[in-house]
Amino acid sequence: MQSLLVLGIESSCDDTSAAVLKGATVLANVTANQEVHRQYGGVVPELASRAHMSHMLPVVHQALAKAHCRLEDLDLIACTRGPGLLGSLLVGTSFAKGLSLALNLPLIDVHHMEAHVLAHFIEDAEIGGKRPPDFPFLSLTVSGGHTQLVRIYSPTRLELLGQTLDDAAGEAFDKAAKLLGLPYPGGPEIDRLASLGHPGNHRFPVPKAGPLHFSFSGLKTSLYQYLQKQDAIPEGQALADLARDYQDAIIATLWKGLQEAVEATGVQRVVLAGGVSANKGLRSFLQEACAEKGWELHIPKLAYCTDNAAMIAMAGLLKYKSGAKGSLDWTAQARMPMS
Ligand code: KG4
Ligand code: ZN
Repeated sequence: MQSLLVLGIESSCDDTSAAVLKGATVLANVTANQEVHRQYGGVVPELASRAHMSHMLPVVHQALAKAHCRLEDLDLIACTRGPGLLGSLLVGTSFAKGLSLALNLPLIDVHHMEAHVLAHFIEDAEIGGKRPPDFPFLSLTVSGGHTQLVRIYSPTRLELLGQTLDDAAGEAFDKAAKLLGLPYPGGPEIDRLASLGHPGNHRFPVPKAGPLHFSFSGLKTSLYQYLQKQDAIPEGQALADLARDYQDAIIATLWKGLQEAVEATGVQRVVLAGGVSANKGLRSFLQEACAEKGWELHIPKLAYCTDNAAMIAMAGLLKYKSGAKGSLDWTAQARMPMS
């Protein structure tokens, strides 16, 4: 059978993205970021919805042009149903439903967090040119809204083992950056500073949230309390050292949870997924730590870590191949359980 041509659409938060895949091969993956939120230090939902409205059509056109294909060539459409900001999701889902009706094509609704995990099935998704993991495998999925440990039995059977009880790992980065007067989103900025910092100058707590669960709000509070005691926000090397210790505490918390998940399930095949998996410190720590344990580790390329429509198209295609028919009989969901 010829590979299907799939259009993916992602609009769950502040990135408007469209991708075209031929089977598991990415022909185009175009994302418009929304600069408008920077001045507010975080995503403003109303502004995000409006920006999706103006970005959606140009982004889809650009993706089709880059893939050298026309709307009539498509076989399938996939879009993010949830979880995410409802207003943002409504823009993408309404657009996708309209397109599905107009072109008479099946529309597959996709779970955003499942798509982060299934991004590993995109051909050439992984650094080092690794093949996708065999089933079952575990995912440490770390993003701006979620921090999860997931056991994956098949593309359509994903079991949530544990998650954060308060802030997500990405929020821990973003909120710390705000306290330190750094621009939004804070993750990349703290990552950059931490790579210049020396470890071991500050003591941050590695919270105990119970097995297989995470907590990050105490870490953020502890940074706040530390800064309250200073005359000013540290600068230069002192700021880099602070970023390094703070990031190390996040990594230690994630590592503790991941070890618990491997122990609880006996599954020693692990993937990293979600926006925070772009973090250089986390990547190199996990590469070393997993190698020491003898576990198989899969890390996606940067383009497939943060929000992108290629992962949505991939997840939609896998769901379709598993028997999903596609329908318009569903609506966007801000909160959405895993399948
Ligand atoms: O998956 P994602 O793009 O969107 C959500 O679904 O939330 O993740 C966004 C999060 C943000 O919190 C951002 O600060 C974080 O990923 N992030 C990073 C890095 N790049 C993005 N965190 C740490 N280090 C990075 N290099
Ligand atoms: Zn995401």
